[in-house]
Amino acid sequence: MLTKAPRGTRDLLPEDCAKWLHVEELFRKICERFGYREIRTPTFEHTELFQRGIGEATDIVEKEMYTFLDKSGRSITLKPEGTAPVVRAFIEHKLFNEPLPAKFFYISPCFRYERPQAGRLREFHQFGVEAFGSPSPSIDVEVIALAVLFLEKLGLSQLKVHINSLGCKRCREDYKKRLNEFLNNKKEFLCETCLVRLDRNPLRILDCKNEGCRKVLESAPVILDFLCDDCRKHFEQVKKELSAVGIKFEVDPGIVRGLDYYTKTVFEIISEELGAQSAVCGGGRYDDLIEECGGPPTPAAGFGMGVERLTLLLESKGLLKIDSWAMDAFIAIAGEEQREYGLRLLYDLRRDGFSAEIDVMGRSLKAQLKYASKIPAKYVFIIGEEEVETGKITVKDLSTGLQEKMTFEEAKALLKKR
Ligand code: HAM
Repeated sequence: MLTKAPRGTRDLLPEDCAKWLHVEELFRKICERFGYREIRTPTFEHTELFQRGIGEATDIVEKEMYTFLDKSGRSITLKPEGTAPVVRAFIEHKLFNEPLPAKFFYISPCFRYERPQAGRLREFHQFGVEAFGSPSPSIDVEVIALAVLFLEKLGLSQLKVHINSLGCKRCREDYKKRLNEFLNNKKEFLCETCLVRLDRNPLRILDCKNEGCRKVLESAPVILDFLCDDCRKHFEQVKKELSAVGIKFEVDPGIVRGLDYYTKTVFEIISEELGAQSAVCGGGRYDDLIEECGGPPTPAAGFGMGVERLTLLLESKGLLKIDSWAMDAFIAIAGEEQREYGLRLLYDLRRDGFSAEIDVMGRSLKAQLKYASKIPAKYVFIIGEEEVETGKITVKDLSTGLQEKMTFEEAKALLKKR
């Protein structure tokens, strides 16, 4: 127990962190290009926010939340997703009084008590964006385009964009009724989970993976045939604008999403190479959520992208390379008598912006040189009795093996050149 991380969590070792940083920096850059600014919300929120926001009859709220009572008896939940907290912050800080649209991005840990497998963890991370205040289809297109451009810049241009429309409260209710009628006549073919879903949330049945259910769904009514005029026009415009900006997509009525807040456009970006957990990114429009959480009626759209799934994919394609790194200088001292002299040089280098280290393991001079070549360092500054006396240090270039005596200032000039 003591030496094993909890199931469904993972460590990022320094090499992983360097890779993640590279991906995060690109995400930040692309978000800024689209006018999205970073927001950071707490790791935990009041449980009610997610119950209300995500929906009581979803798998996340029913089974997957890390919920506990804190010492004063309040029910607290570790965030299972990023949207509801950003909505809460938008309302709490009255950001609706600022010029709209208000556009945010975040990089955040999320927690879901799911059965861990490749690409599915209990603590995972999301890149996300949320745009508040505009009902325009151009915003739906913008969030999809942002995700696609980011993935393209990472080298993933083959991923599939699946889109669908879930309509608004009104047209979805009609559809739910029809779907319910249809499925009620096919009960004997549905799996046990779907039988429960039938009364509580029939839309969930549409993304059931069970073969019997899939067969039944082949002839089920399709939501796109039930859209009201406004929702249909909106969806048509989204498709036109996606084509206008050069994004290939597939209309997929099976995309229903696992959260209840969506209205109109929903989408997923999928990679078959990820196996069962194929969605790298999911999102859509949610025009009622802000009002439902106590804010003024405010249309909104956004997405969440799983960082672990993304890095898994990048790694499998050899696209997660990091620049080779080397420390500028290692200060090797012949003995403890040279330590203070060496420390002065070390901190002079660090203050001047160079990366540098000195021996702290009591190694012999030979072992220090060996260690320096392993870190690796570009140069070793060797300091012995003679160096301290003459003020000239021995500088060894580890890429060529050549060494030369020079003043510390000359050595620094050499580092600047590299
Ligand atoms: P979601 O589809 O639940 O949507 O999650 C978004 C992405 O997070 C998924 O496509 C997947 O890549 C990743 N993900 C989800 N669960 C796990 C897990 N257990 N392990 C690893 N990765 C996971 C949302 O969360 C919405 N908040 C997205 C959104 C933002 N919609 C509008 N704005």
